[in-house]
Amino acid sequence: MKFYRTLSLASIALLFACSSNEQKETSINKEEKEEMKIELQDPHSYSKPNDAAVTHLSWDAEVDFENKIIKATATYTVENKNNAKEIILDTKNLNILAIMTNESEAEEKISLDKADPILGSALHIPINENTKTVSIKYETSEGAAALQFLDPAQTAGKKHPFLFTQSQAILARTWIPIQDSPGIRFTYDATVKVPKGMLALMSAENPTEMSEDGVYTFKMDQAVPSYLMALSVGNIEYRSLGPETGVYAEPELIEAAAYEFADMQNMVDTAEALYGPYRWGIYDVIVLPPSFPFGGMENPRLTFATPTIIAGDRSLTALIAHELAHSWSGNLVTNVNWEDIWLNEGFTVYFENRIMEEIFGADFANMLAILSYQDLQDEVKDLTENGRAADTRLKVDLEGRDPDEGLTAVPYDKGFYLLKLIEQTVGRESWDAFLKNYFNTYAFQVMNTDYFVNYLNTELLDQNPEWKAAIRLEEWVHQEGIPDNIPVPTSTKFEEVDTQLGNWKEGTASSELNTEGWSTPQWLYFIRSFPDELSQEQMSSLDETFGFTTSGNREIQSAWFEKVLPNNYAKADAQAETFLTVVGRRKFLVPIYKAILASDAGKERAMEIYKKARPNYHSVSTGTLDNLLGYEG
Ligand code: BES
Ligand code: ZN
Repeated sequence: MKFYRTLSLASIALLFACSSNEQKETSINKEEKEEMKIELQDPHSYSKPNDAAVTHLSWDAEVDFENKIIKATATYTVENKNNAKEIILDTKNLNILAIMTNESEAEEKISLDKADPILGSALHIPINENTKTVSIKYETSEGAAALQFLDPAQTAGKKHPFLFTQSQAILARTWIPIQDSPGIRFTYDATVKVPKGMLALMSAENPTEMSEDGVYTFKMDQAVPSYLMALSVGNIEYRSLGPETGVYAEPELIEAAAYEFADMQNMVDTAEALYGPYRWGIYDVIVLPPSFPFGGMENPRLTFATPTIIAGDRSLTALIAHELAHSWSGNLVTNVNWEDIWLNEGFTVYFENRIMEEIFGADFANMLAILSYQDLQDEVKDLTENGRAADTRLKVDLEGRDPDEGLTAVPYDKGFYLLKLIEQTVGRESWDAFLKNYFNTYAFQVMNTDYFVNYLNTELLDQNPEWKAAIRLEEWVHQEGIPDNIPVPTSTKFEEVDTQLGNWKEGTASSELNTEGWSTPQWLYFIRSFPDELSQEQMSSLDETFGFTTSGNREIQSAWFEKVLPNNYAKADAQAETFLTVVGRRKFLVPIYKAILASDAGKERAMEIYKKARPNYHSVSTGTLDNLLGYEG
C-alpha cells in the first residue's frame, strides 16, 4: 500500500513556537526547508488508507469465556479520500457474520481474500461517496493469536479465568477487523460485556471498580494505531499510586505491585521534565498473569506488564520506565511500519536510560547500558552466525517475513547506542532540545528512517561537520554489525564485580567474596561473566553461597540457569522446570530452553518440559519455541 502524507517542516516551526518558549534556539528557517513526504507504506497490511481510511471505531463486544472467543460488532467511521470503491481491512482467522454499510445490509460483493499465512486475509468492503459507516458482525476463532484465555489455575487467585490481548505487531487483526498498520490512527469507543465479578480494561479511559452487570464502556479520544488496541479481563483490583498513576492486578498481587512500582509517579514527572508533557492523561500499569509473553507492552494509558518484574526490591522497574517512555517514542511518534521499529524501540531504550539516570543515578544507568551492550554483542554474533547479518542493520527488510523476525536486540540496543553517540557528540543540551522538539513536532504522526535522518541532519548535525564525521550516521543506520565508535560507558560498580570475579578465578571461595550491597545489575554482570564451563563444585558452592537457583528475582534466576544448565547442574533442574511451566515471557523461555538443549539431556528433556508447559504459553511464545524445539503438535 502506498500513501503520501505531506509533512511540512515549516509547520513544525510554528507548532513548536506555540508549544513552548524554552526551545527557541532550534527554530527553523521555513524557506530553507524543502517539503518531505513520508510514504505510508507497510508490507504487512493490505489496507489502502490513501483511498479510504477508518477514522473512528465503535466496538461492541462480549467476551465468551466458555468458548474462549469474543463476539463483536465493529462499526467504523470511514473517510473516503479518493472516490474509492472499497475499503480494505486486515483480518486473520475471524468469522465474519454480517456486514452493513450506512446501517443497512450490504448486498454488494464483499470478498475475503485467500489467507496468507503471515498476513491473513484482506476484507474488501464496497463503499461509495455516501458511505459514512461500515459495520461488521464477527467472532474471533478459538486460538486467535492475539488472545490468551487463561483457566483459573493459570492465575494468582485460581478462581476466575482471565483474558488479555497482545496486538503488536500484526495481531490486532486476529481480534478486530482493522486497517492493521502503525501508520493509520483512529479514535475508538467500546462497550464490553464480561461475566459478572470481572473487571475489563482497555487502552482507554478505564474503570477502577467492577460494575454490577459486567458491562463496561470505554472511550479513547486520542487517535491510536491498531497495534495499541488492548483488552484485559479478570478479577482485577486497582490501587492509586499518585495523581496520574495507578496499578491494576489480581488482589493477591496488588500489594506487592503497589510496593514495587512506588516510583511510578516520579517516573512520569521525570519523563515530562525531560521531553515534554505526558499527553495521555493517566498512566497506569496492569500486572498480568505470568504467561504474558513480553516484559511489557506500552498500551496507551495502561501498560501491560509481566509479574516477573516484581522482585520485591524494586530492582527491575526499568521496564516501567521503558513502557512509559513509549508514551512519547512510539505512541506519539510512531514507526511507519515494522521495518523502522528502531524508531520506536531504540528511542525508548534511550529515554528509559535517561529516566533511570535521573531517578537512580548515573552509576545505575551505566550498568544498564553495559548490559545492553552485552545483549547487542550476543545478538549480532548470533544473527551473523545464522546467516542473518542483514538483520543487524537498524533499518531491516521484512518484506514477505513475519515482523516478529525483526524483533531482535538490534533495534533496541544498537538504536540506543546510536542516540547515545549523538548525545555525546553534540552535547546533552542541544540533543535534549532536539528530541523534545522532535516529539512535539511529530506527535500523533508517523516517522520513517529516511525522514528522521534528514530531519536530524537539517535540524542538528548540519551545524557542525565534525559532528557528522564523528557519528557516521549512514554506517549506523544502514550497515551491518556494530560500528567501532560505539560509546560503551565504564562502570566502577562493575569494576568492583570484576575484582571479585578475579579473586574467585584465582581460587577464593564463593563465601569469601565481597558482594556486600550489590545491586541486581551487578549480580547479572557477575553471573554473565562466569566461564562457559563450570565444574559441579563451582556451581554448587556459588549456589550455596548466593542462592541463585531459588532467587526470587527472575532475571537473576534465568541468567543463572543459562550458565549452569549446559553444564548439567542437576540441582537446578526442578526449579528450571517450574520456571518454564509458570512463566511465559519469551525473553526468558528462549535462553533457558537453549540451555537445556545444550545439556546432555538435551532435546528429549527440553521437549518433555515443553509438552507440559506449552498450554500455558501465549501464541507469541509458542510461535518461537515450536521452531526452536522442532515441535509439531
Ligand atoms: N513494544 C515492546 C514489545 C513488542 C515489540 C511486542 C514488538 C511486539 C512486537 C515493548 O515495549 C518492549 O520492548 N518490551 C520489552 C521490555 C524491555 C525492553 C524493557 C520486553 O517485553 O522485554
Ligand atoms: Zn519497547
